[in-house]
Amino acid sequence: MTTDEIREKYLKFFEERGHAKIEAAPLVLENDPTTLFTSAGMQPLIPYLKGEVHPKGKRLVDIQPSLRLQDIEEVGDASHTTFFEMLGNWSLGDYFKKEQLAWCWEFFTKELGLEPERLYVSVFEGTKDVPKDTESADVWKSLGVPEERIFYYGVDKNWWSRSGTPDSMPDGEIGGPDSEIFFEFTDIPHNKKYGKDCHPNCQCGRFMEIGNSVFIQYEKQKDGTLSELPQKNVDFGGGLERISAAVGGYSDIFLTDIYEQAIRVMEKITGRKYRQVKSESADFRIIADHLRAAVAIAKNGVYPGNKLQGYVLRRLIRRAVAKIRQIKPDSAVDIIGKMCESFGASNDVGDVIKEEVEKFERILLEGARVVKQNPKIDPFELYQSFGIPYEMSLEIFSGVGRLLTDKDKKEFEKKFEEHQEQSRSASAGMFKGGLADASEEVTKLHTATHLVHAALRKVLGETVSQKGSNITAERLRFDFSHAEKLTDGQIKKVEGLINEVVDKDLPVTFETKTLDEAIKEGALHFFGERYGNEVKVYTIGDPKGGWFSKEVCGGPHVEHTHLIGHVRIVKQEKVGSGIVRIYATNKPE
Ligand code: SER
Repeated sequence: MTTDEIREKYLKFFEERGHAKIEAAPLVLENDPTTLFTSAGMQPLIPYLKGEVHPKGKRLVDIQPSLRLQDIEEVGDASHTTFFEMLGNWSLGDYFKKEQLAWCWEFFTKELGLEPERLYVSVFEGTKDVPKDTESADVWKSLGVPEERIFYYGVDKNWWSRSGTPDSMPDGEIGGPDSEIFFEFTDIPHNKKYGKDCHPNCQCGRFMEIGNSVFIQYEKQKDGTLSELPQKNVDFGGGLERISAAVGGYSDIFLTDIYEQAIRVMEKITGRKYRQVKSESADFRIIADHLRAAVAIAKNGVYPGNKLQGYVLRRLIRRAVAKIRQIKPDSAVDIIGKMCESFGASNDVGDVIKEEVEKFERILLEGARVVKQNPKIDPFELYQSFGIPYEMSLEIFSGVGRLLTDKDKKEFEKKFEEHQEQSRSASAGMFKGGLADASEEVTKLHTATHLVHAALRKVLGETVSQKGSNITAERLRFDFSHAEKLTDGQIKKVEGLINEVVDKDLPVTFETKTLDEAIKEGALHFFGERYGNEVKVYTIGDPKGGWFSKEVCGGPHVEHTHLIGHVRIVKQEKVGSGIVRIYATNKPE
C-alpha cells in the first residue's frame, strides 16, 4: 500500500462516518503571534474545541502538514522528523471515547491491515485532579486488546496539550488525557534482545507510536486549576510517515516511499548505500528530513533569512549542506536540487533553496579565506560571523594545516551552549509552539494592528499594504509599503482615527467564508495562495456596511475595541526601499 493510498483511505473512512473534510491550514502562520509553524492538526481548531460553532459541523477530518522544531535534536533516528503530515479527526463535543477508539482500531486493523497482535495501547493513569482513564481501557478490552497490551502512563506520556503537562499549560490552554496506539516491529535485529522491562514508550526501537486520541476536555484557569470545557472533544493525530512505515513493516520511516526517491538520489551521487554505514544513515536521515521541511516552508512563500520562519528555513538548508559536504564535498547543489524535486518542489521553490545553498558555499569560501589569513582564529568566531558550524570548520582549518583538537571542540561546544542559552530564553515562547506569548495583551495589540493597518490606508491611501508584523505584550510592530516616513501631522491623523474607533467601542466579529467571497467584500488579504479555501474574516464595525476594518486573519482578537485602550505610535523607521516600520503601543506614557 502506498502512502498516497493511506491518505485516501483515511479521509474516506472518516468521511463515511459523518466527518466533513476540511482544508488543512497553511504550514506558515503569518498572523499568529504565538507560533511560527502549524505544529498539530488541532491548532487551527482551538476556538471550536473551546465551543465556537464550526461551519462544517461537529465531525471533521483532514491531513495537516506540521512542523515541530522541538524534535530537531531527535532527527537522525528511525522515527523522528521535523516536518510531518498529521492525519487528524475531531469530534467537537459529539462522539467520545467509545466511538473514537473503535474507529481507530477498525482503521488500523481492517483498512490498513495491521496485525492486531502487533498493536499495543496506552491510557492515562490519572492524577489527584483527573481520574484514571479506565473507560478507555475498557473500550480497548471490548475491542479485543488483551490486558497485557494495555499500559497506564502519567502526565508525561498520556496527557496532551500544546505546552505539555497540566502544570506547564499557561492559562487559556486546552488539553486532556490521551490514549496512544503503538506498533511493534519485528524487523530489528536487536528486537529479540529487548529486556523484560521494555514497554511501548521504551526507546529501543521495538515500538513506534502511530496514533494519539486526545480527549480534550479541560482548560487551564488563571488560578492554576483545570476546568471542564463546555464540551468533550476528541482530537486524533497520527503521523502519516510512521503509519506508512508500520504498513510496510519497516521500523525506519526513511524506508517508506515518502523518502525513497530522495534517498536514492543521495545513494547515486555519493556512491554510498543507505544503512551500509550506520553513522551515515543518521546523516542521510537528517538531510532528507531537513530538505523535505525546507521545501514545505519555502512553498509557503518564505525566503531564507535571519528572522523567524526565514531563519528556520536557512538553518535547515545549511544543516543539510553541512552534512552533505561531509559525505561528498562538491555536490551539494546537485544533490539538493534533485532531492527537493523528489519532495515536490516547483522550479521556483527549488531555486530559492539552491540559491541559499550557493550563498552558504560562498560563505564557506569566505570563511576559508579568513582562516588562511588568520589560522589562529577561534572556530566559534567563524560560527558567529558566518554561521559556519564546527564540522565545517574542521574542513576549513585542515585546509591551512591546522588540525582542530578535542580541546578546540570542547571550547566551541561550551561557547555554543552559552550562546544557545541566551537565544533560547529570548525566543522560548515562539519556538515552543505554545501559548506562552498569547496573553491578553498580545490579543489586544493584535486587534490594534488591524486598526493601524486600516487607519494607515485611510490617511496615506490604498497603496499601503502590510509587509510584516510582530507583536509582543508591550508593543506592536507593523511594516508597510510606503515611500517615506510619516509626517507628524500624518501620525496624529492615524492615531486620531484609531482612538476614535477605540472610543466608539465597535464590535470585533468574524465570519468564515471562501477567500473569493472575502476578497469580493473588500477584506484585506496579503498572502494570496497561502490561505486555505476557507478563511476567517475579522470585521471591526458592522460587517454589513460602514465597517472600519475587514481582514482575512486567523485571530484571536478582542471582542470590543474599547478593550484595547488608546494607541500611540512610539517610533518609526525606514527598513528598506519603500518599506516603513512603525512601533505602536497601548501602554500609557
Ligand atoms: N494534538 C495531538 C497531537 O498532536 C493529537 O492530534 O499529537
